[in-house]
Amino acid sequence: MTTPPSGPQQLPMSPQAPGSQRPPMSPQDRAKLEAMKRSWEQRRNIKTRLDKIRYKIAVYSGKGGVGKTTVAVNLAVMLAQQHQRVGLMDADIDCPNVVKAMKIEQRARYEDQEHRFIPAERWGVRVISTGFFQEKEDEAIIFRGPMIHNTITQFLEMTDWGDLDYLVVDMPPGTSDAAITIMQTLPLDGFVIVATPQELAQIDALRSINMIKKLNMHPIGVVENFSGDIFGHGGGEAVAKHAEIPFLGRLEMRGDYRDTSKPTVLGSKHVHKEYEQLVNKIRAALEVPATA
Ligand SMILES: Nc1ncnc2c1ncn2[C@@H]1O[C@H](COP(=O)(O)OP(=O)(O)O)[C@@H](O)[C@H]1O
Ligand SMILES: [Mg+2]
Repeated sequence: MTTPPSGPQQLPMSPQAPGSQRPPMSPQDRAKLEAMKRSWEQRRNIKTRLDKIRYKIAVYSGKGGVGKTTVAVNLAVMLAQQHQRVGLMDADIDCPNVVKAMKIEQRARYEDQEHRFIPAERWGVRVISTGFFQEKEDEAIIFRGPMIHNTITQFLEMTDWGDLDYLVVDMPPGTSDAAITIMQTLPLDGFVIVATPQELAQIDALRSINMIKKLNMHPIGVVENFSGDIFGHGGGEAVAKHAEIPFLGRLEMRGDYRDTSKPTVLGSKHVHKEYEQLVNKIRAALEVPATA
């Protein structure tokens, strides 16, 4: 006859090896395990979504007001003009200007049952932004660190982009927590850095490029915006030279941007030409990688 085991009873279905006597899990450990499972599941969901996107590029700058949103929007529309399937993600969570710059009236939708966001579509570009979820356009969005992180991960996890050739990301400026969160959560294929003609003196752009390099990411190159008679030119090129990365060209400061009825690439042939050249350089850098 066998004697019944002594000590704590082993639960049915327990993965515990026979004979080992692990104490039951504390509520704290159980919560930790659940959080780990959730984070793993989230990472797997993000990967499934991003696997359907060929190239993920970020438009980035050392500081605000240099034309980052303008470049992201016109770049995305220009890519769509070249028959690419394009998504545009507004990752400037505190300052979501993409909705306005794209002149989108329709909002992105959240589908409760499917647990997903359906991007709004305009000018052939699929768009997601916290701007869609603001009650009023002028409402201040005050996100603290963890909320920024959650918003970014939720966008990445739940936005149903479908198949895309390009996802263009309008980044928050500088080396803030928000910028770092995006760089760590989203495996970007490259960065387009927007600089101004006087940029080198302010070193913000160089600081941002150094951060990209430190995180082992790929700076595609620098574009100079607001180039021309008023602010001069040369800052973008100097930054590129200093950081030893390609210079992608100049975007002149023009009155054409005053017409806000549509993205300027669609309304100005000069701007269209500038962006055509910029997009061709970016596509060449990504699609035909330089050989060492
Ligand atoms: N090349 C340009 N010429 C004239 N105005 C421009 C140019 N680039 C951007 N702007 C204008 O400058 C303002 C700030 O640009 P924005 O893209 O919002 O900057 P950021 O996203 O870096 O804060 C906008 O009103 C935009 O229309
Ligand atoms: Mg902006």
